[in-house]
Amino acid sequence: MADPFAKLILPDQKEAIQLPIKEGSLGPKVIDISSLSNHGIFTYDPGFRSTASCDSNITFIDGDLGILLHQGYSIEDLADHSDYLEVCYLLLQGELPNAQQRAIFEHKIKNHTLVHEQLSKFFNGFRRDAHPMAVMCGVVGALSAFYHDSLDIKNPEHREICALRLIAKMPTLAAMCHKYSIGQPFVYPRNSMTYSENLLHMMFSVPSNDDLPNPVLVKAIDKILILHADHEQNASTSTVRLAGSSGANPFACIAAGITALWGPAHGGANEAVLKMLHEIGDVKHIGKYIERSKDKNDTFRLMGFGHRVYKNFDPRAKVMRQTCHEVLSELNKQDDPLFKIALKLEEIALQDDYFIQKKLYPNVDFYSGIILNAIGIPTNMFTVIFSLARTVGWIAHWTEMISAPGLSISRPRQLYTGEKNRPFIAMQYRD
Ligand code: CMC
Repeated sequence: MADPFAKLILPDQKEAIQLPIKEGSLGPKVIDISSLSNHGIFTYDPGFRSTASCDSNITFIDGDLGILLHQGYSIEDLADHSDYLEVCYLLLQGELPNAQQRAIFEHKIKNHTLVHEQLSKFFNGFRRDAHPMAVMCGVVGALSAFYHDSLDIKNPEHREICALRLIAKMPTLAAMCHKYSIGQPFVYPRNSMTYSENLLHMMFSVPSNDDLPNPVLVKAIDKILILHADHEQNASTSTVRLAGSSGANPFACIAAGITALWGPAHGGANEAVLKMLHEIGDVKHIGKYIERSKDKNDTFRLMGFGHRVYKNFDPRAKVMRQTCHEVLSELNKQDDPLFKIALKLEEIALQDDYFIQKKLYPNVDFYSGIILNAIGIPTNMFTVIFSLARTVGWIAHWTEMISAPGLSISRPRQLYTGEKNRPFIAMQYRD
């Protein structure tokens, strides 16, 4: 059967333009408008609310039903039965690894956890109080200066080694950001540890003691990493794809993703949640802040509530909520004033008509912020943890795009609303 078409009739044309309708394996159909520019017209969709920018087989989201699948596996199953490194393998290779593949992958990652000693000198160029995301943008981009031997993006082996290096080095760099900001020595990775154990080890251990990370916290961090590993074409992933479409090297593209993630509407939300909880300060002030968030003349929003895609619930938030309770109970922090504010806020917002009607539910960052805070990770490091988790998603999307046939630079158009062509005015005649 021939592909179905949508017909578009422009006001000044008699013939309809036929636009193919494409169907993926799941999710809504899309109208392929890529031939429209041949007719001298473009579509207009600021914020890309109605636009699919690419084909992808990595992640599927159904925002209405609250479904998130990676290569067909539900996020709930992955969070319950898998671990972050296995999810990395899945996102990169398309299948869960068998025992041998898993061991080889882990070995390869561990082989790349160190960063070049020269790179550690970069940190000294930053102020100690620099925002760690600012430092991450710099040092991740700088990785491209160290691997000139493997930057041929057309070579699959080069692409693979870049992916491994990025996934392996992100925890080391993230921990270095933290250690630098508090004036402690950098802690080298330990390859006897799991990925998440190693992250907590490099973040919190000091050469003068041998404390091992608490297993409950290791599990919680691993869940946070799994839940943030990928989320299809969000702002930062789209940024990575856009940067990559020009042929830029993967380290530069991931640095671009980090910058896009930084904003409070995206990865900066968990940091913003904590700042908001501090600002609210006491359960008795919650009502005032709820009212402010509804006031059209007030820019205040309840951070950690709402999502561009999930309009009923965020499946990641369900898992995080459970982990949040486990961590606070392990650390005996259920009476923590910030946690009490968070629970009350969650309760009130879930019953409030404004939030119900606008389908604003606590999202993953609402709970991850509370967990990271309880673990002792400073607020300004939250988005760094998100960026290290999302690196695998970014690199999986970058690889998918680069290895597909017919790569061409992404170049959106615009609806120009500026001045029409006008004569130049010499200085003496200007107002
Ligand atoms: N508090 C109060 N009102 C809100 C909120 C909020 N958090 N979020 C949306 N609204 C209102 C908004 O004012 C608008 O009202 P109206 O229809 O009267 O103009 C309506 O809900 C729709 O908002 P929108 O901005 O058009 O929705 P969006 O889909 O563009 O925005 C969002 C999604 C996540 C940017 C937004 O909900 C928000 O700013 N949330 C707080 C920040 C946050 O938690 N971000 C993390 C997202 S999860 C992490 C990730 O995946 O990156």
